[in-house]
Amino acid sequence: MIYITGDTHGNFQRFSTDYFPQQKQMGRDDYAIITGDFGGVVDGSPRESYWLDWLEEKPFTTLFVDGNHEGFTRLNALPVHEWHGGKVHYVRPHVIHLMRGQVFEISSLTFFTMGGAASHDIQDGILDPNAPGFEREYWFKRRTRQMFRVKGVSWWPEELPTDAEYEEAVRSLERVNWKVDYILTHCAPTSIQQKLDRNYAPDRLTDFLQTVKRMSHFDYWFLGHYHRNCVVDDRFIVQWEQMVELRQT
Ligand SMILES: [Fe+2]
Repeated sequence: MIYITGDTHGNFQRFSTDYFPQQKQMGRDDYAIITGDFGGVVDGSPRESYWLDWLEEKPFTTLFVDGNHEGFTRLNALPVHEWHGGKVHYVRPHVIHLMRGQVFEISSLTFFTMGGAASHDIQDGILDPNAPGFEREYWFKRRTRQMFRVKGVSWWPEELPTDAEYEEAVRSLERVNWKVDYILTHCAPTSIQQKLDRNYAPDRLTDFLQTVKRMSHFDYWFLGHYHRNCVVDDRFIVQWEQMVELRQT
């Protein structure tokens, strides 16, 4: 069994037995997949460890691609392992980060993964805690209710892929002749994003995903980021708190 859901932002209540009773039939080879903004690895606090342990104790295995709101400093410091044909970080033995630009084979299905997204809630800037006058600027922005984030605390430059990650993605797709069963990303290809919300500006990642959309053969593309549940162009499944089950046809 494979279930897919959208952004969790460090709140995993939707996986409690009350909301997700299907887990009673699930084992470690069954999966719950989060399409970015997992948010469980940010500050290393006791609260964070508690919830990661809570997830680890679930009967299923949790998989996630990264979004933009992840603690990339901690996440990317984890050792890289090979799992089901692609690279992963183990947050816990059964809570696994599916890295960017990989093709995984899970339960005889293939998944291309490409996390990351540009943050859009930063219109009033990003503050660097090491810059002079940081404290003063921070509290001024807080008091005046500005939309800003702090580098390394609530915003990370790694939210967008590097050249090496794009190159790895192309190599992985070439290896499977640009044919996979499913695609898992956080943001959408540019044309799909435009249909969802014209306020989101295209960027290098959405343009890259547009190329993937044009060149790949796939059945469905699952994504998060836009905080809504809808289907675009029949095959793009945009999710937030909703959970869908993948059923092989
Ligand atoms: Fe989000």
